[in-house]
Amino acid sequence: MRRIQAPLILVAVLLVAAWAAWPRYQVARTATPTAGGLAMPARDFSWQGSISCASAACHNAGGPRGSRGSEYNTWITYDPHARAGSVLYGERSKQIEKNFRGLETLQDARPERDSLCLDCHVSPHVDRLSHRTRLSLEELVQEGVSCESCHGPAERWRTEHYRAGWRQLRDRQRQDNWGMTATKDLAVRADRCVACHVGAPGREVNHDLLAAGHPRLNFEFGAYQATLPKHWSEREDKARYPDLEARAWSLGQVVSARAALELLVGRATPPEAGKEDGQRPWPEFAEYDCFACHHDLQGQSWRQARDLSRTGAGAPKKPPSGILPWGTWYYAMLPELPGASPKVLADLQNIKGAMQKPHPNRKAVAKQAADAAGELGSWAQQLVRRTYTDEAILDDQFAAIARDGGPLAHGSWDEAAQLYLGLAALYHAKGDLHPRQRDSRLRAYLVTMGQMLAFPLPGGVKYDSPEEKGYGDRERQFHDALQQIRHRLGQ
Ligand code: HEC
Ligand code: HEC
Ligand code: HEC
Ligand code: HEC
Repeated sequence: MRRIQAPLILVAVLLVAAWAAWPRYQVARTATPTAGGLAMPARDFSWQGSISCASAACHNAGGPRGSRGSEYNTWITYDPHARAGSVLYGERSKQIEKNFRGLETLQDARPERDSLCLDCHVSPHVDRLSHRTRLSLEELVQEGVSCESCHGPAERWRTEHYRAGWRQLRDRQRQDNWGMTATKDLAVRADRCVACHVGAPGREVNHDLLAAGHPRLNFEFGAYQATLPKHWSEREDKARYPDLEARAWSLGQVVSARAALELLVGRATPPEAGKEDGQRPWPEFAEYDCFACHHDLQGQSWRQARDLSRTGAGAPKKPPSGILPWGTWYYAMLPELPGASPKVLADLQNIKGAMQKPHPNRKAVAKQAADAAGELGSWAQQLVRRTYTDEAILDDQFAAIARDGGPLAHGSWDEAAQLYLGLAALYHAKGDLHPRQRDSRLRAYLVTMGQMLAFPLPGGVKYDSPEEKGYGDRERQFHDALQQIRHRLGQ
C-alpha cells in the first residue's frame, strides 16, 4: 500500500518545494506589523525545552523514524521544524531582515532577535514565554519549532503524562487544565499549523516581507501534513480517521480560509494614528494573485508565472491596469466542500468584489471579513464530524471536483494547484479505504497534473525558477489530464 502511494506523495513534496521557490531580491522597504495573535492555551504555563523530552526512556530511544519512543530522534533528524530557529542565523535570513527593516549592513541584521520572525520560527508569543522558562531566549531560538510549539508548554504535564490516570483524561481536560494541545483532534491540529503557516494579525508574511526575500506561504493542510516527516504512527492516525486524507483536506481548507480571513481583518483595519503600525500597507498585495502583477507577457496563462521567478527581474515596472484577482489560494475550493452554505459563499463573493475594486474600503472589508471568518469557524465545527468513510460520498466528491474543475484548471496557478491537491487527497483517501480499488490510470493522470504545476529544480537547487522551455505548454497538458480523468469517470 505504501509503495503504491509513493509517486503522488512525491509530487506533493515537489509542490511543497515549489511553494518555497521564490527568488532572492534586493528590495528594501520597511513595515512594522502590530503585536497580536493566537490565543495561548488556557493558562500561561512555562516551557521545559525539547531536551526535557529527550531522555532515552521517553522520546529519544534511537529507534527507526516514526517509531514510538523515538519522537525526538525523528524530529531532530528529519523534521524541517527542528531547523526553523537555526535558519534565522543564516545568511538568507539576515538578508531578508536587512531588506525588510531597511538596515545599512548585514551585520546590523539580527533576525534571531526579531519577534516577528520568532513568532513563527519558534512559537507564537515566544517573548512572553521566555519570561517563564528556564531556557534563555537563545536556547529557545536554537530549538526552532519544537515539541512544545505544537504540544503546548509542558510545565504541568511533563511529569504527569506518563502516569496512570493520564489516559483517562479527555483531550479537552488535558488542554484546558494541563496545557497540552489536543493534537489528535484534527481541527485543533490544523489550527496549530495555520497559526504559523497562514499567519494572524501582526504575525504575517506580507508583500513587504515577500519582496524582502521571504518564501511565499501557500499552506494546504492535507498536503503539508502528508509531506511532514511524521514522528507519530500514521497507522494509528488512520485507524482513528480511516478517511484521514479526505477529512484533513476538507477541514484544512476551511480552517486555513478562516485564518486567512482573520488575517485580512488585521490588514484591513485602519491603523491608529501615531501608532507603530501606521504604515500598514493597503491594499495588501499578498492578498492577490501574484502572477497577475508579476508578468510581462500578454494573456491569461500560467506562462506569466515565469517572470516572478527570475531573480531580480520579477518586479513589475508599473502597476497593472486590469482587475486584480483576490484570494486565489485560500478560497478557490470552498464552493466544492460539503456543507458550503449559500450565505458563506455569497459573503465571500462580496469580499472579493470589494477587494477587487481599485481602492478597497478598509472598514467595510474588515467588517465583512470578520463576519465571514465567524461563519467559517462554525462550518469547520461541522466538518470535524463529517466523515468520508462512505464510498459513494467519496466518489461523488471526487467526481464533482473533476466536473467543476475546468475554470480552475484555466484560472491561476493557485487555483489549478488547489484543484490538484483536492483530487489527490480524495484519491488517497479512497485508496486507503479500498486498497483493491486503486485506479492506476487515475493516478497517472494526477501525477501528470502535479508535474505540470511543479517548478522544476534542476541540479537540486531549491530556490530556482520554472524551466523556461515548454512552461507555457503546461496549462494545456494539465487541462488534458483533467479531461482524461473526466472521461475515465464517464463524464
Ligand atoms: C507568519 C509566520 C512567519 C513569519 C512572520 C516569518 N516566517 Fe519565515 N517562514 C515561515 C514558514 C511557515 C516558512 C516555511 C514556508 C514553506 O516552506 O511553506 C518560512 C520559511 C522561511 C525561510 C526559508 C527556510 C528554509 O529552510 O528554506 C527563511 C530564511 C525565513 N522563513 C526567514 C524569516 C525571517 C528572517 C523572518 C522575520 C523577518 C520570518 N521568516 C518571518 C513563517 C514565517
Ligand atoms: C509541528 C508540530 C509538532 C511538533 C514540532 C512536535 N509534534 Fe508531536 N505530534 C504532532 C502531531 C500533529 C501529532 C499526531 C497527533 C497525536 O498523536 O497527538 C503528534 C504526535 C506525537 C506523539 C504521539 C502521541 C500518541 O499518543 O501516540 C508523541 C509522543 C509526540 N508527538 C511527541 C513529540 C515530541 C517529543 C516532540 C519534540 C521532539 C514533538 N512531538 C514535536 C505535532 C508536533
Ligand atoms: C510555531 C510555528 C509553526 C507551527 C505551529 C507549524 N509549523 Fe510547519 N513550519 C514552520 C516554519 C517556520 C517552517 C520552515 C522551517 C525551515 O525550513 O526552516 C515550517 C516548515 C514546515 C514544512 C516543510 C515545508 C517545506 O517547504 O519543506 C511542513 C511540511 C510543515 N511545516 C508542516 C506543518 C504542519 C502539518 C503543522 C501542524 C501540525 C505545522 N507545520 C506547524 C512553522 C510552524
Ligand atoms: C498589485 C501588484 C502586485 C501583486 C498582486 C504582487 N506583487 Fe510582488 N511586487 C509588486 C511590485 C510593484 C514590486 C516592486 C516593488 C516592491 O518591492 O514592492 C514587487 C516586488 C516583489 C518581489 C521582489 C522582486 C524583485 O525582483 O525585486 C517579490 C519576490 C514579490 N513581489 C513577490 C510577490 C508574491 C509572492 C506575490 C503573491 C503573494 C506578489 N508579489 C503579489 C507588485 C505586486
